[in-house]
Amino acid sequence: MSQTPPVLDVRDLSKTFAIRRSFFGRGGGAVHAVDGISFAIAEGETLGLVGESGCGKSTAGRAILRLTEPTAGEVWLDGERIDGLGAGEMRLKRRDIQVVFQDPYSSLNPRLRARDIVAEPLRNFASAIPGGIEERVADLFDRVGLRPDQMDRFPHEFSGGQRQRLVIARALALKPRVIICDEAVSALDVSVQAQVINLLARLQRETGVAFLFISHDLAVVEHVSHRVAVMYLGRIVEIADKAALYGQPRHPYTQALLSAAPVPDPDGRRDRTILKGEVPSPINRPSGCHFRTRCPSAAAECAKVSPVLRDVGGNHHVACHLVEG
Ligand SMILES: Nc1ncnc2c1ncn2[C@@H]1O[C@H](COP(=O)(O)OP(=O)(O)OP(=O)(O)O)[C@@H](O)[C@H]1O
Ligand SMILES: [Mg+2]
Repeated sequence: MSQTPPVLDVRDLSKTFAIRRSFFGRGGGAVHAVDGISFAIAEGETLGLVGESGCGKSTAGRAILRLTEPTAGEVWLDGERIDGLGAGEMRLKRRDIQVVFQDPYSSLNPRLRARDIVAEPLRNFASAIPGGIEERVADLFDRVGLRPDQMDRFPHEFSGGQRQRLVIARALALKPRVIICDEAVSALDVSVQAQVINLLARLQRETGVAFLFISHDLAVVEHVSHRVAVMYLGRIVEIADKAALYGQPRHPYTQALLSAAPVPDPDGRRDRTILKGEVPSPINRPSGCHFRTRCPSAAAECAKVSPVLRDVGGNHHVACHLVEG
């Protein structure tokens, strides 16, 4: 059977940060930021990754990109394993796997003109550009909705939304297979957010690029994603098609997140659950199910056995002992 492999295939990825003892001899140990997450993204697909602050979303993205070394697990890109590549080989792979962060200003060289920012990856990587680099840069400007007269501007001469368009143009320059967007629109005004989101959707239709869309904003993720994964304390607790995840969330944590967020629920189908307490520390996690200390329906079993993600039907995966199916 020959099937096209997923564009991005992440298997049991973990990242643990070692921490030093404090002056008072407290602490020591490890931060389990990402704890064995697995998912795959197909060509032209957007997977949303949501969860509260500190649950490990950015660390997951950075470990996939090797901006931080994964502690364990595998990352496959178009059927090729990339997590073990050396620095030089990984640099070449960055053509195919790009990233857009929240703050475009910090990721742009303030001394370069916009045209050179977009041309830089082309000069560094591409051997021959049909039509030449100038023409390609002009095309990229056009695609992301920037005007030709803005090509000679410096990053500080753009608005926040325009700067994010510039970052997207640069990310697209080498025709990547997947772009990891980490809170890519979170700093923008709502109306500008919508423009950038529409831009990403159009670019995906035109190029088939896959997105891993990391955000704490459930409404934005609902808008952009085909499927959505929910993280809690380093683990994926639920992953499903968008409609199923938002329409019939099965994990008590997802239900609580959605009932707390201003996400439209026109049919009033979702039960209201209020999350009690704080997220436990990733240094000292509860035994068994990490969510049990805040779960409204935790049972004795939940403290003993860590629930695994399983398919409860229709490609809807949930890690909870109490969910049937
Ligand atoms: N370099 C590091 N050293 C030690 N701990 C770290 C490091 N980077 C992240 N962490 C910890 O790992 C956990 C996950 O952090 P991460 O930034 O991935 O969360 P996040 O889900 O992206 O949060 P946010 O929504 O606030 O961006 C946190 O507890 C964080 O403090
Ligand atoms: Mg983050």
